[in-house]
Amino acid sequence: TRVAVLISGTGTNLQALMEQVKKPSSSAEIVMVISNRPGVMGLKRASMAVLFVCQVVDHKLYGSRAEFDGTIDKVLEEFRVELVCLAGFMRILTGPFVRKWSGKMLNIHPSLLPSFKGVNAQKQALQAGVRVTGCTVHFVAEEVDAGAIVVQEAVPILVTDTEDSLSERIREAEHRAFPAALELVGSGAVKLRDDGRLVWNQSV
Ligand code: GRF
Repeated sequence: TRVAVLISGTGTNLQALMEQVKKPSSSAEIVMVISNRPGVMGLKRASMAVLFVCQVVDHKLYGSRAEFDGTIDKVLEEFRVELVCLAGFMRILTGPFVRKWSGKMLNIHPSLLPSFKGVNAQKQALQAGVRVTGCTVHFVAEEVDAGAIVVQEAVPILVTDTEDSLSERIREAEHRAFPAALELVGSGAVKLRDDGRLVWNQSV
């Protein structure tokens, strides 16, 4: 499966996905990395692995979300991308784009959805006083942080935790959960049904 990874920042999830697709057993290959911001650490990580194309599509250069998304879509089509992984991609995508890539776009969120949607999910969990949080890899739906869940990993919250220490522990879980979800979807073991439910393909 031809995969594009979209980033906005440090790219540690990108790094984990890059490690995953190197495995002979992997059903995926990363053919493209796109960042909406220039000069981020994630691009440096991508440039280290010369196997694929890196592009910056700077959202500040576009008059509208629709135009930005249209450019992303064109680039994805150009490289015959089959699956998009949003790895710390901090842009809300427009309805038409999300609908077009429905069932072919995954996102990672640092909480056990549906709890703690939106930004600062780690801080929300700390403030809610829960003892367990985690991360979720889900198909992207038009409603933010609400698509069908593919993989989750639970992470304990320690009494000594700060937002930073908790975020770090969640990120470690993300680096296992996202590669696992990539393989499930990339291999066809998991598909998204038209009604938005997940289908496990028992035959593989
Ligand atoms: C992660 O915490 C992820 O949950 C959130 O943004 C962060 C991305 O980190 N979407 P990185 O850029 O993959 O290091």
